[in-house]
Amino acid sequence: MEVSESEEATGGGVVGKEKSTFLSTINITVNGVQYEVGPDIASPSMALLDYLREKLHLTGCKSMCREGGCSACTVVATAPDTENPGATSTFSVLAAGSGGGTAGQGEEILPGGEQVAKWTTSGVAAVEEQADMGARASTGRTGEDEDACRSQCRQLLYACNGWSIETVEGLGDWRHGYHPIQTALAGFYGTQCGFCSPGMVMNMYGQLQRNESLTSSEAEKSLDGNLCRCTGYRPILDAFKSLTVDGDVRLKDRLHDIEEAHKPCCLKGKGGCKGKAQRGSKCKAQCNGRDTGSGGAGGPGSEVDRGNGEKNPSTPAQHSVRVKAGNTQWYQPITLQEVCDILNTLSEGDTYQLVVGNTAQGVYVTTDPYTSYINTTRVPELYTVQGEEQSITLGANVSLRRAIEMLRYTADTVITGFHHLRDVADHWALVANESVRNVGCIAGNLMIKHQHPEFYSDIFLTLTGCDARVNVMTAATAATATVTLEEFLALDMSRSIITSLVIPTVSENTRLRSYKITPRAVNAHAYVNAVFRLEVDPNDTFTITSRPTILYGGINPQFVHASKTEDFLTGRSLSEPDLVERACEVLKTEVFPDSLPQDASPQYRASLTQSLLFKAIISIQSDVGYTVSPSLVSAGYTIERPLSSGQQTFNTDQTAWPLGQPVPKVEALPQVAGETDFMNDVASLPGELTGVFIQSSVGRANITSIDTSQAMGVEGVVAVLTAADIPGLNNVMAEAGVHVEEVFASSSVIYAGQAVGLVVARSASAAYQGAAAVSVQYDSIQTPTLTIQQAITEGSYSLESDPVVMGDVEDAFTNSEHVVSAEMAVGYQNHFCMELMGARVTPIDDGYDVIATTIWPAEAQSVVAQVLEIDANSVNVSVRRVGGSFGQKINRCHPVVAAAAVAAWHTHSPVRVVLNLSTYLTMLGGREPYHSKYKVGFDSTGKVNGLEIDVYCDAGCVANDSSATLATSFLTNVYGVSHWLMRPYTVITNTPSNTFMRAPGIVEGIIVMETLMDHVASTLGVDPLSVREVNLATTGALRPQLQPFGRNVFAEDILPLLKTSAAWDQRQQEVAQFNDSNRWRKRGLALMPMCFNIGYGGFRFGVMVNLYTHDGTVAISHGGIEMGQGLNTKVSQIAAYILGVPLESVKVKATSTTTNANSSHQGASVCSDIVCKGVEMACEQLMERITEFKEKRRQDGKAETSWPELIRMCRDADIDVCQRLWTRLEHLNKNYDVYGGAVMEAEIDVLTGQTQIRRADIIEDCGQSLSPYVDIGQVEGALVQGLGLVLTEKVKFNSDTGQKLSNGTWEYKLMSALDIPVDLRVTLLPNSYNDSGVLRAKAVGEPPLVMAYCAAMAVRRAITAALTHTQQHTAWFQIDMPVTVESVQQLCKVESSQFTIK
Ligand SMILES: Cc1cc2nc3c(=O)[nH]c(=O)nc-3n(C[C@H](O)[C@H](O)[C@H](O)COP(=O)(O)OP(=O)(O)OC[C@H]3O[C@@H](n4cnc5c(N)ncnc54)[C@H](O)[C@@H]3O)c2cc1C
Ligand code: FES
Ligand code: FES
Repeated sequence: MEVSESEEATGGGVVGKEKSTFLSTINITVNGVQYEVGPDIASPSMALLDYLREKLHLTGCKSMCREGGCSACTVVATAPDTENPGATSTFSVLAAGSGGGTAGQGEEILPGGEQVAKWTTSGVAAVEEQADMGARASTGRTGEDEDACRSQCRQLLYACNGWSIETVEGLGDWRHGYHPIQTALAGFYGTQCGFCSPGMVMNMYGQLQRNESLTSSEAEKSLDGNLCRCTGYRPILDAFKSLTVDGDVRLKDRLHDIEEAHKPCCLKGKGGCKGKAQRGSKCKAQCNGRDTGSGGAGGPGSEVDRGNGEKNPSTPAQHSVRVKAGNTQWYQPITLQEVCDILNTLSEGDTYQLVVGNTAQGVYVTTDPYTSYINTTRVPELYTVQGEEQSITLGANVSLRRAIEMLRYTADTVITGFHHLRDVADHWALVANESVRNVGCIAGNLMIKHQHPEFYSDIFLTLTGCDARVNVMTAATAATATVTLEEFLALDMSRSIITSLVIPTVSENTRLRSYKITPRAVNAHAYVNAVFRLEVDPNDTFTITSRPTILYGGINPQFVHASKTEDFLTGRSLSEPDLVERACEVLKTEVFPDSLPQDASPQYRASLTQSLLFKAIISIQSDVGYTVSPSLVSAGYTIERPLSSGQQTFNTDQTAWPLGQPVPKVEALPQVAGETDFMNDVASLPGELTGVFIQSSVGRANITSIDTSQAMGVEGVVAVLTAADIPGLNNVMAEAGVHVEEVFASSSVIYAGQAVGLVVARSASAAYQGAAAVSVQYDSIQTPTLTIQQAITEGSYSLESDPVVMGDVEDAFTNSEHVVSAEMAVGYQNHFCMELMGARVTPIDDGYDVIATTIWPAEAQSVVAQVLEIDANSVNVSVRRVGGSFGQKINRCHPVVAAAAVAAWHTHSPVRVVLNLSTYLTMLGGREPYHSKYKVGFDSTGKVNGLEIDVYCDAGCVANDSSATLATSFLTNVYGVSHWLMRPYTVITNTPSNTFMRAPGIVEGIIVMETLMDHVASTLGVDPLSVREVNLATTGALRPQLQPFGRNVFAEDILPLLKTSAAWDQRQQEVAQFNDSNRWRKRGLALMPMCFNIGYGGFRFGVMVNLYTHDGTVAISHGGIEMGQGLNTKVSQIAAYILGVPLESVKVKATSTTTNANSSHQGASVCSDIVCKGVEMACEQLMERITEFKEKRRQDGKAETSWPELIRMCRDADIDVCQRLWTRLEHLNKNYDVYGGAVMEAEIDVLTGQTQIRRADIIEDCGQSLSPYVDIGQVEGALVQGLGLVLTEKVKFNSDTGQKLSNGTWEYKLMSALDIPVDLRVTLLPNSYNDSGVLRAKAVGEPPLVMAYCAAMAVRRAITAALTHTQQHTAWFQIDMPVTVESVQQLCKVESSQFTIK
């Protein structure tokens, strides 16, 4: 809507002296449909994501972290290019918004005409901002922690004025056909749970839209921000590489086959392009008939124009925008002068934000609500890019992506003075991730540093290293000051604006090196970043001719220059052998890293500053022609990651297809198109309320009072519920655990983050604000017990089950030539399911309907019945699918279900509770940490005689899910040892109640066994493999707690195959040679066996198979839950095989407590087996009846008939064509062993600790695989999850309060696509067979995770090589998991005295 200035009294503040017109609404096009949005529809602080999900119901755009850290919310935008009037640019962008922090439930959208307004426009913005505070306050983060915490990057809806947004729904769907990127991702088996898939598709779509010549390397790097917890990334990378110009021919061939199977999207569409749509691009003019948008239905605002699938950026003429929503103003000025005018008109108390990418909110939460948002993305002056002879100028708003391109271009094309910009560009490419770099600008980054001096800004540091200048304009005077970066930090930036940055040239002899040392390869903040700029005269003994620049970030908020070291180096020569050594002595006198609990240790960071100086000097020496010793050269570089690759090998018996056929997952296509609904994608019901937990801020205390009065005063809050409000039992455990776990803490809290109550409100914003307003008082606050050692000291532990005794261990020790003992720990791991925990409970006429992210509906039903004290038949739980579980959704969803049920009971309204990431990570437990002590007796060949092992499992605050006994049961792995004594202890700490996570206890037990094998080898100084070989169990060998060994498949089949396929002998030599030739880089090669016993005890499921007489199609409902493991695919294959129908005619339906009552949970890898067995038997029973009928007809001389006809005839003959079956243990025969083997090669940078897994060869025994690509997906996914456990996923707590500090994507690092093994080869063991289980197959969900430890073993070898080099390897050393970059470097005992440059 266009208005003139005189109308502005009601529309906005008075701006500008001259009369002008401006728009009071914005236009946005979504999937070809244009919408006009004004203050009656959305507040200025609304995120794009919330608009898309809640109003347009485009739920393919997922909400997960809302921190910019996972890219699940990626959409593609085509926006006016301010730098080039009339042009547009296309890029991927994160749509996530704050919305008060509830995942997927954003700010309440102000209704369009047809709905009833619940809010005044003034309320929303302010409330939302405060809700951010509420989210933090409720997790108890205050003070320092609060500063360090982040939340909610947000692409603000209003900032999308004139943009055309494409969501995954716009690309393709089942009605119109799928887009080639979607079919590629599905066809390459790149989805498991499918939660990350739409974000993956949109990222790739954005890449290909921008660059039709995308290379494989570019495609791979562009996935730096997209997290996937299921697949292990390899198939996703393959799918996307197949779409690139230089994709590997094998991938291209496979893509061709996939494309043949799925013709391009518009082939099916009326008037479509008949397959002419090109790779990566949506069909354009040819596809006029295609209806692309699901966004049109019921969209908010006036629908201006029905789209045709074209990108249709409504590029309004250069109009300013001013939207007034209550007390909040949104401005979109179009000139710098207008920006200044707006700033000048703000009153004293006004708070404002300049909005560019708005990604800074992903780093630091703004606590104060703004009264004005000034979007400067239409101000051309701020986008200037100008190259001159002596400098290059970059406008303040230039995005990091564009800046990188410009820096590279300038460095490569301008003849002199800009060569250093290549290093800067490479460094900037490591800032954040692709989608953040697409919109985040230079000035925005610098302003974070300005506002938070402790921020490890890579942009600030590198620009300082370039001696850049910042141009800052003061609005009041319109005067521009030019200052250095450090002067800029001291400027008062209030009502001032950065206009540009100027980077000067450097002399030909100047070299710049910069480094960023991070917890994982990409999308991670620096532990320490550094810039070194040296001018060196190669013709004068390599003298440093001017004062060098040495800068470090991540030391402390004040530290920038290592001035004393700069002084020291001035005038010295790079040829001085002890130059670095001496410089480091100076450095030590000025670098004092601060100590923050969530950061790497000060020792490590201090050591890094020295290592990086050494690295820089070596690198510059090589560059300026100084002859560096060949063994030192690699010290000058960080480990480069080559393009990754994968190989998958399996046998399949085509005669049995579709059984064993490598089919894509049955839900793959809907998943990649965002068509599969997860719990929180289900549309709101009328009157639906939102619940937000009140969490404790201390870890061990008594509750003295809970004051809810202020919260009840928050507009929109309906109820504040505490323990006193629970009508039934205050316990979230029905059958799941013997110990009580309270829904809401009643009298005391036993961990920080515990639920104390629930605020129920009409919107998420109000609920968060309400939660923040609740005041909980405590007394008897004690220091929480957070570690196993602490718990042992305090006596907070007990035996979980009787000690395991076999033989006589004392006797074995006495008779052993060697006895050694040691300890080791395996840390906490967050499940980090991409679909966070949630539930909605809806009162109905005879009870409650529940949808929830549980994989145990029967227990959820019992819990609701228990807390409400109602009958179980009043509770109907149904689950369609969940987005990953890994064990957590067995029972950790039930606190959420229970709270939602209590709220629904009280309010008699539907109540949805979906945790945000922080609450998810702080309230719910994760994988149990372990600490183990072992003593091993062995002879001189390494043969182990006896073992004594104590395992301590940290169950958290309540021991309901302790896995200590599993650890001792599985610890044997493949080895035959005669004498054992094992004690499984459970310790109790003040941390969330921990729970099962993929291979719980089992991986920790086997890690102990493999570690002690290495210990034995180290003691004897022999090859670790020889020790393993001498200990391999033979057939019939006894093992404690499990049945005797059968044939040792590892020894007989896997080991010989692995040695050949992984070129074990040859690569051992290569690694040794590499280590000899490289002083500061080391490699390690390790081989690890795996034996994982599968047992069926206690699991049972209901299965129902229905044949429909209409057309003979099949619908299956079973008690299992599809969570990404491919259960429904296997079930469909089995049904199709036994019934003899096409796979496409089988569908698997949601699980519910009505159709599949009393079923067990999905866990322990075996449930797929059991459900599959149930389906097999049910189908066989059906076929028995049908075949009998058919035979009778044949005997009666009746002609053969079609399947649908046959099914109809059965019905007419009163033969039931539906079968229900209850699986039982006896159906599955006996326990069996799953074997595997891994070889992995790691390379470490000794100076920094950075680690790369160069190659992984995995052999997994799946028996006769039911679905090879599903099984390979499980192998790769489990492996990469395990790599996170052993390499990167470190969890930290605040030792004073007990608060979990690893509570978001910023601090907690799962593996990214660029951390996985560079070369990943997976083989399903050929010719394997299972005489137990189902259809000769073996379970696969958990076992492969165990083999990830092979990576840590390889890292140990590399560290040992480093220590050997410095004669520091004197004895066995303990390595705790995860062996992070920090651990690696610290274990290598790097000393500056070793930095001799000869
Ligand atoms: C997931 C994630 C990872 C990240 N990783 C890194 C990293 O590894 N290293 C690193 O250095 N950074 C990192 N960042 C920070 C990132 O670079 C910045 O968020 C981004 O550059 C900010 O730009 P923006 O356009 O989004 O700024 P906005 O968020 O729009 O604005 C940020 C601030 O700058 C102010 N502002 C904007 N323009 C101007 C101007 N012209 N003059 C004065 N003030 C202005 C605004 O008022 C606001 O206060 C990361 C961010 C995210 C979300
Ligand atoms: S939800 Fe958007 S980046 Fe995670
Ligand atoms: S498939 Fe990627 S998160 Fe599940």
